[in-house]
Amino acid sequence: MGYKAKFRVWRGEGGEGRLEDFTVEVNEGEVVLDVIHRLQATQTPDLAVRWNCKAGKCGSCSMEINGKPRLGCMTRMSTFEEDETITVTPLRTFPVIKDLVTDVSFNYQKAREVPSFTPPADVKPGEYRMQQIDVERSQEFRKCIECYMCQNVCHVIRDHEENKPNFSGPRYLMRIAELDMHPYDVLDRKESAQEDHGLSYCNITKCCTEVCPEHIKITDNALIPMKERVVDRKYDPLVWLGSKIFKR
Ligand code: SF4
Ligand code: F3S
Ligand code: FES
Repeated sequence: MGYKAKFRVWRGEGGEGRLEDFTVEVNEGEVVLDVIHRLQATQTPDLAVRWNCKAGKCGSCSMEINGKPRLGCMTRMSTFEEDETITVTPLRTFPVIKDLVTDVSFNYQKAREVPSFTPPADVKPGEYRMQQIDVERSQEFRKCIECYMCQNVCHVIRDHEENKPNFSGPRYLMRIAELDMHPYDVLDRKESAQEDHGLSYCNITKCCTEVCPEHIKITDNALIPMKERVVDRKYDPLVWLGSKIFKR
């Protein structure tokens, strides 16, 4: 059965904006993105929203629904009470372009700063041999749809704009951890994770893991093991001795 829902949507651009109230029709089985689209079709033709697949796979429709980062296309209207006001706002950690659309280029920049997979020079494509266990360890991380909700929710940058230059965020620390686990990658990912990408800023609050729509265990399976490997390396007596000798 259809009903009328109360929506409060953030509208604005260029750093200015306000919440606007709407009453909009909802039909059975719909998701929040359907209702936003109905708003566009019937009341606010210029309402900006980014979306693409409507299947939870492109990562475009990230928004904050009642203050929580969610995919608009995967958030069923049936999860809310019919008389509840549903507040929809743009991701808070990134600058707003217009309405619900944010400029997520911070993430593209951080992606570029992670050197790509670097195999040994004497091993050619087609000659890689990996154990199944090594394949499986990183498989989970490759489910990432780059929705940036983990980046958006991490308090290190959500509340601290000044940390952005020094912190790559959970999505890219996870990428570094994935490469570090690869038996054929030869780069020193540990020092770079700590020095260049701000791994030490992460204090394991796990908010990133909680919001991941792909249910990737970012903290437990990528960030904590990476932190452990960094610590192991630091306190490895051979590494310590080497650093003393080469620093002389
Ligand atoms: Fe989104 Fe999860 Fe990928 Fe983060 S790790 S960008 S929350 S899919
Ligand atoms: Fe941030 Fe996730 Fe660490 S939310 S503090 S990167 S555990
Ligand atoms: Fe693709 Fe929502 S529109 S994930």
